[in-house]
Amino acid sequence: MTGKITGISGPTVSVDLKGLKLYERVYVGHSMLTGEVVRLESDRAVLQVYEETRGLALGESVRGTGTSLSVTLGPGMLSKIFDGLQRPLAHLRDMSGPFISHTEELDALDTSVPYVFHPMKKKGENIRQHDVIGYIEEGSFRHFICSDSEGALSRITDGEFTLDLPVAVLEENKNIYGYHEWPVRVPRPFRKQFPPLEPLVTGQRSIDFLFTLAKGGTAVFPGGFGTGKTILEQSVAKFADVDIVVYVGCGERGNEMAEMIEEFEKLRDPWTQQKLMDRTILCVNTSNMPVAAREASIYTAVTMAEYFRDMGYHVLFLADSISRWAEASREISTSLEEMPGEEGYPTYLASRLSGFLERAGVVETMNGKTGSLSMLLAVSPPGGDLTEPVTQSCLRTSGAFIMLDTSLAHRRHFPAVNWFQSYTLYGKELLEHCKGNISADWEKIQIECREILQKEDSIREVAEIVGVEGLQDADRLIMHAAERIRSEFLIQNAYTEDAFSPPDKTLSTIRQIVEFYGTALEKLKQGISLEDIFAGKEKE
Ligand SMILES: Nc1ncnc2c1ncn2[C@@H]1O[C@H](COP(=O)(O)OP(=O)(O)OP(=O)(O)O)[C@@H](O)[C@H]1O
Ligand SMILES: [Mg+2]
Repeated sequence: MTGKITGISGPTVSVDLKGLKLYERVYVGHSMLTGEVVRLESDRAVLQVYEETRGLALGESVRGTGTSLSVTLGPGMLSKIFDGLQRPLAHLRDMSGPFISHTEELDALDTSVPYVFHPMKKKGENIRQHDVIGYIEEGSFRHFICSDSEGALSRITDGEFTLDLPVAVLEENKNIYGYHEWPVRVPRPFRKQFPPLEPLVTGQRSIDFLFTLAKGGTAVFPGGFGTGKTILEQSVAKFADVDIVVYVGCGERGNEMAEMIEEFEKLRDPWTQQKLMDRTILCVNTSNMPVAAREASIYTAVTMAEYFRDMGYHVLFLADSISRWAEASREISTSLEEMPGEEGYPTYLASRLSGFLERAGVVETMNGKTGSLSMLLAVSPPGGDLTEPVTQSCLRTSGAFIMLDTSLAHRRHFPAVNWFQSYTLYGKELLEHCKGNISADWEKIQIECREILQKEDSIREVAEIVGVEGLQDADRLIMHAAERIRSEFLIQNAYTEDAFSPPDKTLSTIRQIVEFYGTALEKLKQGISLEDIFAGKEKE
């Protein structure tokens, strides 16, 4: 089915082709650029082209494929770097050099790599759809292969196989391959959803202790320019206690991604000591890559993340930044001449974002395993203005809001998490878990820590007028304890050994400060002077 291009406006192309379906994948022009149908009218279809449209001319042909924009899901994705359309960047570089121009269709997965298949079903057994039929070892992971149809097994591989051949055959010659395709805009199904009750340890003290995140939960990190969003996202990608990390570099700087890749190649996962890249998938669509593919990149990546969730793993999805995704949607919407909403963003921005965040969760998968998909999205509000539409839309649907503060960043207080304006809705549910698994006094210390920070805030104004020396001893003690909380606990340098703090270390650090404060306060009440307490003389 082919048609002709009748109009081109940036990444949007009109075509006189009838019979196309909404969101169908198309090939555009002589160089077969990949695109997707985004609007259908009586006499034309409008396409969103994911590659550079420079050089495209009217009258060139367009071909429909009959299928939606999809990703290939199977072994060989871990430790790989893909672009927003799941093309492996290493192959793209080999084909077109470091400055990627258009390339022919590329397979996402290498079909020539031999894998060893361990069958979990026997010939003759009845297989239902979604049943796990076996696994292959991929690094330290068991990569489970599921059946996409049902029937009796007439043949199953035991040992080496490649992806281009069926791994098993059902009666009536139904082949089961080691991979399958899935449309990126359709969430993968699951049986039921559970509330998130287990903490997601990030290794960042300020977040783990004060604003605990949940496995299967969602969190946004809004912050102005240079507030440390990228460093924080990358730190969490390194240290989170999850099985698989899918990281999307969405419209941000290419050099930051390059540094991250270099660093991840060398580092080890602090929980398993395996190579960090072995559990990581990177999806890169930096600012110098086509805008329309950036719009698709988060869907491509989240579908890969859901695939691993379906195997019963804890998966973490990170995007830096979702604002650049929203800007790409705005650009596409403008070239489609859609009615603009707030600040020119499409009117469906909020519903698209909430639909996307809904893909996170703890679920019982179709084959009865329990897996989770957590999402951490960086938001870059222009001018640090948190009332802008993208931040507000994220705020409404996400479970935690970790606000990165420009004034803290200016003072080099990193991570610049504002401890008064950030919040987590998972706090209460996770408290029981932290009390039971880390320490019974977790909540008590948390309350005391917050009280100290709160009290300091209320006396800071007075301190600025009269000076710290002019304060009463009890207030000076508060100032001292709060300063220690900030400098010894909340500040965490991402470039030193301190970059990762496991939960027991996090708790013992804050316990020490809070207990010192408690004892000092007691001594003050007994009439010992603050100077003597600080000097440790009261012991004599
Ligand atoms: N945890 C940290 N430890 C030490 N330095 C940090 C930390 N977080 C951020 N920084 C410093 O702040 C700088 C800016 O951080 P980063 O690039 O992550 O900000 P950003 O919010 O992503 O900026 P942009 O808005 O430009 O994307 C870093 O180069 C680094 O010097
Ligand atoms: Mg950044």
